[in-house]
Amino acid sequence: MKIEHLFSVREMSKKDIFNTFSLASKIEQNPEKYSNSCKNKILAALFFESSTRTRLSFESAMLRLGGQILGFTSAKVSSAAKGESITDTIRMTNHYAHIAVIRHFMEGVGELAKEFATIPMISGGTGTQEHPTQALLDLYTIHKEFEDIEDLNIGIMGDLLYGRTIPSLLFALSKFENIKLHLISPPALRIRDNVDFRLKETNLNYSVVDNMKEVIDELDVLYVTRIQKERFPDPTDYERLKDVYNIKSSDIENAKDNLIIMHPLPRITEISYEIDALKQARYFDQAKNGVWVRMALILKFLGLDINE
Ligand code: CP
Repeated sequence: MKIEHLFSVREMSKKDIFNTFSLASKIEQNPEKYSNSCKNKILAALFFESSTRTRLSFESAMLRLGGQILGFTSAKVSSAAKGESITDTIRMTNHYAHIAVIRHFMEGVGELAKEFATIPMISGGTGTQEHPTQALLDLYTIHKEFEDIEDLNIGIMGDLLYGRTIPSLLFALSKFENIKLHLISPPALRIRDNVDFRLKETNLNYSVVDNMKEVIDELDVLYVTRIQKERFPDPTDYERLKDVYNIKSSDIENAKDNLIIMHPLPRITEISYEIDALKQARYFDQAKNGVWVRMALILKFLGLDINE
């Protein structure tokens, strides 16, 4: 049997995405029904970089499915600290678990997983490359809000250069119709050329702007990301750019009534805490939706989604 892995949303068709949402929605409406679906199955959470949401929501997802979890929370507490290669870690995990989620700083870890993993492996974030399950929960949140993912005007703002959620979200959105995108960032943090190249091969319609004031009155969704301190080669560049955006309630006074504000989190200073209490804030809902989407993905990649 061919083992399936997930390291890019580009590997999923629109039909795969909607099937995942359909199952996530069924789980969300009746979680009890799935509480034994992964009995006797083990999820390995291999986190070579820090995480709150991705690790805990995958672990919560597996526990809610009646499965068990094991893993490590940083490279420092695994044998990577002694010099073990990622390929050997993948080979070991084959014997210890039935499915794994892996967060790693090295781009291309997906290629190694495809070569060496004999269990399904799902990216929990790969360097600056992609964060496919984040994009899926983002789209699930948009789908729940607007009942479809079409004819929307979406602003994506922040560190578009280093944020790994950004390429995944853009590649996922490129599968849908009539999405008008505004990529909002300082010139130093525009999307990378290889992402731009791939987007130009799609029908995605996008403009590039410096300031959300230019487009805020048009948006249905404002998706904000933090400036990714840990990815900057030169710390002085980070210091120069870290406070470039800080959304306050006064900044969305001219927004459409149906605007929602999203963020993959963690948030630093780019969204003021005063926004949390406003009807537009959806970032904590996104984090919650991540559990349902990851439950659906675990079932799908374990081949347990048949007849669901
Ligand atoms: N959104 C997200 O990936 O958060 P964590 O880094 O906390 O997992």
